[in-house]
Amino acid sequence: MTTEAWWASPSLWRKTAVWITGGSFVILVFLTFDTMAYISAGGKQVPGYSIINQRVDYQYDDEKKRYLPVIGPEEPLFGKMLTEEEAKALVSKGKLTTQAKNCMQCHTLLGNGAYYAPDLTKAWLDPWWGNKEIREQQMVDFLMNPQDRLHNALGRRMPNLNITEEEARATVAFLKWMSAINTLGFPHNFKAIDQSAASAQQ
Ligand code: HEC
Repeated sequence: MTTEAWWASPSLWRKTAVWITGGSFVILVFLTFDTMAYISAGGKQVPGYSIINQRVDYQYDDEKKRYLPVIGPEEPLFGKMLTEEEAKALVSKGKLTTQAKNCMQCHTLLGNGAYYAPDLTKAWLDPWWGNKEIREQQMVDFLMNPQDRLHNALGRRMPNLNITEEEARATVAFLKWMSAINTLGFPHNFKAIDQSAASAQQ
């Protein structure tokens, strides 16, 4: 009679497989919920939509060694305070506009898209738009008539995409909200754009 080694028993491996599959499933469920807490609007990393009622700055954090969004006092977009619901509707419309007009064909948004034109993740914070009072109007004017401007060193102009004023305002809301997302210092080269724009203004 042959005695089977304990580790060669099929029932042991069957049980092990069941436990590993079950355990991995539990970990995956946990990780999914944990990730949702980071990536949902109003979560740990992504602000709620009504952040567009506040000032958004971008400052270097010496401890973390990266740029981080800093949320300041009330600074309502287009001078109007919105509820979370109203802000959500506006930001969503802006997001739909960027999808409908395929901005990603040239730009990058949160890491997705092309590198023909500047990254839009932090475009709201580009000092090129001037002081805070006129920033949103400058952006609306630009989105409706981008062909009038040339500020990047590459000499590329953005074409006119026939964006209506309503769409442009919503897009600006989307860009402001996006700039408040903690992207852990991404895009890495944003400061360079920032500086060239600031010196171009002087
Ligand atoms: C065909 C390519 C192309 C498409 C499509 C395009 N853009 Fe642009 N965009 C550009 C170029 C080129 C520039 C740089 C122009 C400049 O700086 O003078 C630019 C600049 C910008 C800027 C200024 C960025 C900054 O940091 O100052 C914003 C904001 C912007 N685009 C938004 C959009 C949005 C929103 C869409 C979609 C609705 C869009 N663009 C679609 C080419 C494009």
